[in-house]
Amino acid sequence: MKRILIFFVVASALAGAAILAFLLFPSRISEEEIAARLPAGFQPDAGEGEILFHMGGCAACHRDEATSTLAGGAPLETPFGDFYPSNISPDPKYGIGGWSDADFITAMVKGVSPSGQHYYPAFPYTSYSRATYADLLHLKAYLMTEAAAPTPSRPNDLSFPFNIRLGNGMWKLLFADMGPFEPDPGQSDEWNRGAYIVNSLGHCSMCHTPRNIFQAEKKSQPFAGGAPLKEGQKGAPKLVGLKRDSIINGLDEFAGAVSEKSAMYHVTISYSNNVPLSDHDAIATYLTSLN
Ligand code: HEC
Ligand code: HEC
Repeated sequence: MKRILIFFVVASALAGAAILAFLLFPSRISEEEIAARLPAGFQPDAGEGEILFHMGGCAACHRDEATSTLAGGAPLETPFGDFYPSNISPDPKYGIGGWSDADFITAMVKGVSPSGQHYYPAFPYTSYSRATYADLLHLKAYLMTEAAAPTPSRPNDLSFPFNIRLGNGMWKLLFADMGPFEPDPGQSDEWNRGAYIVNSLGHCSMCHTPRNIFQAEKKSQPFAGGAPLKEGQKGAPKLVGLKRDSIINGLDEFAGAVSEKSAMYHVTISYSNNVPLSDHDAIATYLTSLN
């Protein structure tokens, strides 16, 4: 009996220590782990990265309209306060120009900064965590071709206790459903391509999947429709049960399916102009299979 008790005390102390270590010293992705996951002879390609940049909608949040750089766009207003997307331009001091590949991949797949801070999930790393390391390095190569913006990121303006970054670590432990993406060998290549885009860089679930009271996406109701991001805006409709044509039209600037005022418009413009039609088809194949 006593032994069992000691076992429990030691086990819970260890579990507590593990949680604390995760919160305070989150692990990073190492250069070795990255090298192990890249195809032989991999070379980052900024042209490939530009497509991924549009697929990921980075400009929707990070493009500053006044300077047209990636200095950080309009605040995301939420009930917890305002989030300011960071400067992700190549500026070495204020942007991410000085970041290593491991810094960037750790930010995108773990939601952890170079100094070991936990990012807020307003930065949709829960989805981006499913992107391949090769795609993330193409994306980084593209980001480095953008103009440098020598202006500091604006700090978020959040109310207590949401202004404590450690809370994001706790949130990740309890609620976050993160990558990597696991292809389904029973499905076609096209289906897997669609599943990959939708669930990784596409971050479609950010708007189209309902959330629980902890703001985590409800895994049991994928793409069942989400609440509006901003008050007064339209919520995102459900994507399950749609016909193939409706999905294709939603990604086509000229189909008139999406209003210019909606949060989707940015997505539609990006996909229409910068993402190959074969990828639109793949997205439709995947989403219609969920019906
Ligand atoms: C829905 C809005 C949104 C989208 C879309 C988005 N981000 Fe962000 N991003 C943010 C916010 C907000 C932060 C700041 C998070 C914080 O303060 O914890 C951020 C932070 C970052 C950071 C950390 C920067 C730093 O200085 O620490 C990187 C890197 C980043 N984003 C890259 C990207 C890339 C690349 C894309 C596109 C694939 C992207 N983001 C798309 C909102 C967004
Ligand atoms: C920033 C939030 C946001 C993101 C991210 C987003 N959507 Fe949407 N989506 C919306 C909103 C809001 C609408 C409603 C637009 C309207 O009615 O004008 C919409 C509409 C649509 C429609 C039209 C549905 C219909 O019934 O006609 C399709 C299709 C669609 N989205 C697919 C996607 C796909 C695929 C992705 C990921 C690549 C995605 N969306 C990412 C917010 C978003």
